[in-house]
Amino acid sequence: MLPPGERSADALTPSLSWPQLLAMGVGAIIGTGILTLIGVGVDRAGPAVLVSFAIAGLVCACAALAYAELSAMMPAAGSAYSYSYAGLGEGFAWVVGWSLILEYSLVVSTVAVGWSGYASPLLMGIGFPQALTQGPELGGLINLPAVAIIAVVTGLLMLGTRESARINSVLVVVKIVTLLLFVGCTLPYFDAANFSPFMPYGYVSHVDGQGVQRGVMAAAAIIFFAFYGFDAISTAAEETKRPSRDLPIAIIGSMVVCTLIYMLVAAAAVGAVPFARFANSPEPLALILRSMNQDTIARIVATTAVVALPTVLLAFLFGQSRIFLAMARDGFLPQRLARISKRGTPTRITVVTAVIVAVLAGLLPIGKVAALANAGTLIAFIAVGACLLVLRRRAPDAPRPFRLRAAWLVGLGTIGGCLYLFLSLPIETLLWCLGWNVIGLLIYLGYGRHRSLLTRASAK
Ligand code: ALA
Repeated sequence: MLPPGERSADALTPSLSWPQLLAMGVGAIIGTGILTLIGVGVDRAGPAVLVSFAIAGLVCACAALAYAELSAMMPAAGSAYSYSYAGLGEGFAWVVGWSLILEYSLVVSTVAVGWSGYASPLLMGIGFPQALTQGPELGGLINLPAVAIIAVVTGLLMLGTRESARINSVLVVVKIVTLLLFVGCTLPYFDAANFSPFMPYGYVSHVDGQGVQRGVMAAAAIIFFAFYGFDAISTAAEETKRPSRDLPIAIIGSMVVCTLIYMLVAAAAVGAVPFARFANSPEPLALILRSMNQDTIARIVATTAVVALPTVLLAFLFGQSRIFLAMARDGFLPQRLARISKRGTPTRITVVTAVIVAVLAGLLPIGKVAALANAGTLIAFIAVGACLLVLRRRAPDAPRPFRLRAAWLVGLGTIGGCLYLFLSLPIETLLWCLGWNVIGLLIYLGYGRHRSLLTRASAK
């Protein structure tokens, strides 16, 4: 027992309330998905990418509601990992934690490489060697800008949670204003003829004659990337002043704000030019603006991507270190890593996390990484839906500061919707995901299970 008023060595400092958390959620959600993957989405679904946005948004709305109830009930830094520990037991918790590591690492790596894609042309303009802007698979040596941006964001996180939240809030406003600027500039060019044919590649996810994954569901499985990030808010639970009020407001609020903005941006983009023109573009929104002779606004959008994409990195790097922290506390990872610095942040884990994701970002191509990040996220969301249902059954009277009205509908909607999206991912992604989980299971059986505090406590 600690003397009253003293914090344990691995306690986090509560310094956040809902406005910062809402900004953190929006900062984590709006990123590479809407800025870049919308181009991949129209390539797979045509104008019906709007339906893909609606489907992915609906599934994420169910998941967000489930997160809202569970995070207010169990304000723990481990998020879905901690809920699974409470609801489904240690083995499932490990699988979910392992999937979250896949999600958070690959999102950070993907967004860092995406950021480098926008920043590198600027850097090469002042003599930066091209070989240091790409990983080996694309003919370079290492993607140094991607590594550098991860180092900068890590430094911010180590300064402390409140300081990084403040910078995040400013950048979030910049991002929202820019997307609304895009909508404002493209809506006058809206032409309903661009929506026809509406669904050129059909609905179901399938591989077409050219070996390309197509269909509304194939697009939805990728566009899903654009929507998540609200889950990262729940990893800040221990640093939240009034978790039972602040977490539900921020989780649900950030989803609503982003879904509205996305539907506007997607409709404006598809209505502005024939979809084939920006399909698969690495910078679709800027390209659309340029094709309407809006060069200055196109430059503003590109610059905003460079300035504001790091908010996504901030939120996911933050979340990753908190999940590692929760797993280390439970004995699944070395506990030395879980110590909190004088500034109230888990410095060691933050640095370890940053090094791992920087190596991935420096060396790996961006292409299929987002799909794999989605696979990890979908597993975690399925577990959250299951935890909601299991805990409602097992502990119906436990205090629930935020109690959902239609919990069964939300839980089943989350599980069913995520499963459907998961099965719409390319088969190659599913195989990589399987491989990752087999490795995870071997580590659990060989190390985690024996080291876990639960096992050690019951052996005494
Ligand atoms: N939703 C985040 C993004 O689109 C992961 O970048």
